[in-house]
Amino acid sequence: MSSQQQSLFGFPEQSTPNTQGVKYTGSKLKLLPYIISLLPGLNVTTILDGFSGTTRVSQAFSQLGFQVISNDTALLSKVFATAFLTNKKDPKKYQDLINHLNALKGYAGWFTKHYGGQDFNGSAVQADGKKRPFQIHNTMKLDAIRDEIDTLQLPEIDRCVALVSLILALDKVDSTLGHFVSYLKNWSPRSYKNMQLEVPAIAINAQDNQVFQDDIFQTLKVVACDLAYFDPPYGSNNEKMPPSRVRYNAYYHLWTTVIKNDKPSLFGSANRREDSSDKVSTSVFEEFRKNDNGQFLAVGSIEKLIHHTQSNYIILSYSTGGRATAKELREVIADCATLVKTLAIDYKKNVMADMKWTHQWSADENANQELLFVLKKR
Ligand SMILES: C[S@@+](CC[C@H](N)C(=O)[O-])C[C@H]1O[C@@H](n2cnc3c(N)ncnc32)[C@H](O)[C@@H]1O
Repeated sequence: MSSQQQSLFGFPEQSTPNTQGVKYTGSKLKLLPYIISLLPGLNVTTILDGFSGTTRVSQAFSQLGFQVISNDTALLSKVFATAFLTNKKDPKKYQDLINHLNALKGYAGWFTKHYGGQDFNGSAVQADGKKRPFQIHNTMKLDAIRDEIDTLQLPEIDRCVALVSLILALDKVDSTLGHFVSYLKNWSPRSYKNMQLEVPAIAINAQDNQVFQDDIFQTLKVVACDLAYFDPPYGSNNEKMPPSRVRYNAYYHLWTTVIKNDKPSLFGSANRREDSSDKVSTSVFEEFRKNDNGQFLAVGSIEKLIHHTQSNYIILSYSTGGRATAKELREVIADCATLVKTLAIDYKKNVMADMKWTHQWSADENANQELLFVLKKR
């Protein structure tokens, strides 16, 4: 565990556990101390992390001793959650496997063909006019390591630990802005490094955590817990560019392909897998259209989410840049829960406020703030 955090709002001091994850839009790494500060006093044992993404929040909850149920539609999240939340072995036992994978001789296979590029005096633009997210010396290692993970036919948790190790190593040598829908014109300095796998910082989990890879509304049918933490995609409230929302399936298609190793059909300048295309149906939380009553569909989904959750408490993460306005959120929350507490965190100004539902908050909603609502279900 890292050093003690400063005391927040008079709660006892909590340390923030060390977690690991890839670069991910909306990751709550920086928000972890604030989320954790909300837990004392709620008297909870089991926590559902309904949109777990990188699983950093799930990892922190688990290390703090809570029983965690981690859910996300993304395959990346399932693999990370399986490695970090269900491992029961001493992590040192994975060192021989990681050494073996690091020692493999690279070769130019499927990943190198589609995602590996050469260095033309710093430029990443290849002969076919496309850019690539990795340099060839690293995709050759990727080809060898990924094939070997299949050849070894590892037990499920070991396979996930190996995949997490590979993905974390690739994430350190990429040439991207943190997603895979477009790549940099010039190679990033880190892309010149040789990728090196390490044993992930996994814990030995004493409690029996659970992992789901499902739409949240399916998971809510079978999960009851003390607290649900929800961090749905926010959409964008940029009226000029409504579809400029983050689409996780498209942004992180390459991690899906590394995990599946299924050599899918690809399209577009970023060589995206075909099933990550905009034509394939997307999450209701990423929806940017309105319903017949003029309400954003994403707001209706949050209402449904709160309504269908079987828990005493809910912590809802939201950003003031998201689809829902203060008024809309107030209405959907008031419908089926009591607001216990609201935190507003402004990273740019480095300030935090403990807010009530005041006019002041509505007035501030143009500032780009991260909001944390603690709700008690009625
Ligand atoms: C803001 S991110 C969560 C980030 C996460 N809290 C973290 O710290 O990494 C939103 C996540 O919601 C997931 N998602 C989108 N629609 C979903 C749905 N209907 N059910 C479950 N997960 C969904 C996306 O795959 C994405 O990982």
